[in-house]
Amino acid sequence: MEKILIIGSSGQIGTELVLSLRKLKGNDQVIAADIKPECPDALKNGPYVVLNALDREKVRRFIIDEQITQVYLLAALLSATAEKNPHFAWELNMEGLFTILELAKEGHIQKIFWPSSIAVFGPTTPRVNTPQYTVMEPSTVYGISKQAGERWCEYYFNKFGVDVRSIRYPGLISYTSLPGGGTTDYAVDIFYQAKKGRKFSCFLSENSGLPMMYMEDAIRATIELMEAPKEQIKVRSSYNLSGISFTPAELAAEIKKHLPQFEIEYAPDFRQAIADSWPQSINDDAARMDWGWKEKYPLSKMVEIMLEHVNPDWVQ
Ligand code: SER
Repeated sequence: MEKILIIGSSGQIGTELVLSLRKLKGNDQVIAADIKPECPDALKNGPYVVLNALDREKVRRFIIDEQITQVYLLAALLSATAEKNPHFAWELNMEGLFTILELAKEGHIQKIFWPSSIAVFGPTTPRVNTPQYTVMEPSTVYGISKQAGERWCEYYFNKFGVDVRSIRYPGLISYTSLPGGGTTDYAVDIFYQAKKGRKFSCFLSENSGLPMMYMEDAIRATIELMEAPKEQIKVRSSYNLSGISFTPAELAAEIKKHLPQFEIEYAPDFRQAIADSWPQSINDDAARMDWGWKEKYPLSKMVEIMLEHVNPDWVQ
């Protein structure tokens, strides 16, 4: 019987992943875990436990006692926040991973999902149609931690046969919970401001193209990767994954098709340098070939859904 633990369940990916996995596996088989003392309303249809990813002993005890078979380890600081708190970001992004990899090595867990990011690439990486295997010299704390994590995942697979799987997520766009601390977050915030009828001040410049993806595609990719037969998973560092790539100006133009009054202004801040070091578009042939990945949501559809569903009362 599969028993799944999602650490970092209250975040942008976690919330939707828990709900999708519960639909697939049954509510009681999927335990949501987060450092937040309160279970978010959206996740009240199944078990919730308060866990700090850095509390190694408590995490170990819980996983062993509850006979958890799969762990999705999502707790992390994202790119912009990590720049402000480098040492804590390194600790959080790495220590939890070691705890889980070790548990799998000892035979307590059968399968691990660990998210990586386009942030593993850096200024020396080819920026257009970035290949799976290429120069990787990340220049952010977040990117350094994700790249190191990828190396450790591959190492634990090669040395100890740990079945760990990973995706290099692009910027993720969703409306069920707010993102926090990312360089791609503007592409979510913009919908709240547009719906409030306000002018949007974008922290990236108008032509900063970045790889992005509608959350439903990202969740489907994650589950498809985790459900694929082991032999099909050839990349044990992390898979490139591509959805839609656009600039703030292109996104604004698409929003204007629905809200002709919408206005945007550009006020780049420190996040501009982070965006400039990342790819503009991603080549994901390996994911397509190995486990049949294909995105469903183009820019137009994503914009339509976001404008319909975001709740403008969630932001000031
Ligand atoms: N969305 C993330 C960030 O901007 C990238 O993985 O930090």
